[in-house]
Amino acid sequence: MSNKVAVLPGDGIGVEVIAETVKVLKVAKPDLEFEEALVGGAAYDDCGQPLPQSTLDLCRASDAVLLGAVGGPKWDKLPAQLRPEIGALLPLRAELELFANVRPAKVLRSLLNASPLKNTGGTIDLVVVRELTGGIYFGHRERQDNGNTAIDTCKYSRFEIERIAEVAISVARRRNHQITSVDKHNVLETSRLWREVVDEMAANNQDVKVTHMLVDNCAMQLIRDPLQFDVILTENMFGDILSDEASMLTGSLGLLPSASLGSSRNGRTFGLYEPVHGSAPDIAGQGRANPLAAILSGAMMLKYTFADDSGAERIEAAVDSVLEDGLRTADVFEKGSRLVTTSEIGDAIVAKLAG
Ligand code: IPM
Ligand code: MG
Repeated sequence: MSNKVAVLPGDGIGVEVIAETVKVLKVAKPDLEFEEALVGGAAYDDCGQPLPQSTLDLCRASDAVLLGAVGGPKWDKLPAQLRPEIGALLPLRAELELFANVRPAKVLRSLLNASPLKNTGGTIDLVVVRELTGGIYFGHRERQDNGNTAIDTCKYSRFEIERIAEVAISVARRRNHQITSVDKHNVLETSRLWREVVDEMAANNQDVKVTHMLVDNCAMQLIRDPLQFDVILTENMFGDILSDEASMLTGSLGLLPSASLGSSRNGRTFGLYEPVHGSAPDIAGQGRANPLAAILSGAMMLKYTFADDSGAERIEAAVDSVLEDGLRTADVFEKGSRLVTTSEIGDAIVAKLAG
């Protein structure tokens, strides 16, 4: 079986954080093969396309994709279809059929002080499972009335809901067996179908406890009592918003990993792994970026694509351990800790893994 990883560093700090991640993965799992390609603004500058065909072909020929970040002010004025976010990120998701976005929001014990909820007596540990290739993001769009009326359509099929609910169920089985399915079924027809399908799946998977919550209530409950959540299952746009909200509860947005999963091929779950943070052009190239979100995304890759849970846990433990030692990049620096650069913290993690 091949162990091929397509590496797409992208723009800004994406380049630096992915370099550290590859360094760590090479030690954690020496049988991985890496091949690099351009994406985003870097690809646009090279060939006029934010997602070149050769990059897409490399992703298709790989078992997993490791992505840094795309975008930056340099490309903000391009027409929408050529901008890195719309021209690279959304087509990558669609073309590779990455329908399941898994975004854990977890407070690392050593960074508890950064969380606005540090006095609640527990640490947040929840996962948002967001449907990623359907709904209003990919529905029909139109302008009418000489451009003065705009339409975006939200559409979901039973098949799309079933397959994302299956992912949520399997994620919940690795955790506390509890799913909160989030919708707006008092208003939206897509939400009523969503609830119907999720209920049927729940009836067939009774080891997992499924409850429903309206999205506005969920936004409120995340602030009021985030410890009540294990897995939040939701559609594309609600998941976009709730995953940002949940991530901020940890106080360290820059530390969160994510996975966008497709279906299985050759017995493996194909996935694209990327830090939740963006390309941070203001600090790019200065060795100030925090590579931990990217490195933890690498750990998710070992877990979800390569079924190497122990490799993933070793990386997570090494990350915890360098933080316990007091090493901090500038974004999470606090008095009494030791300020280190992007590659210094990467080296420290490699040393933990090797030692
Ligand atoms: C995300 C981002 C993207 C999204 C944007 C950049 C298109 O916010 O990955 O959450 O809305 O999906
Ligand atoms: Mg978002």
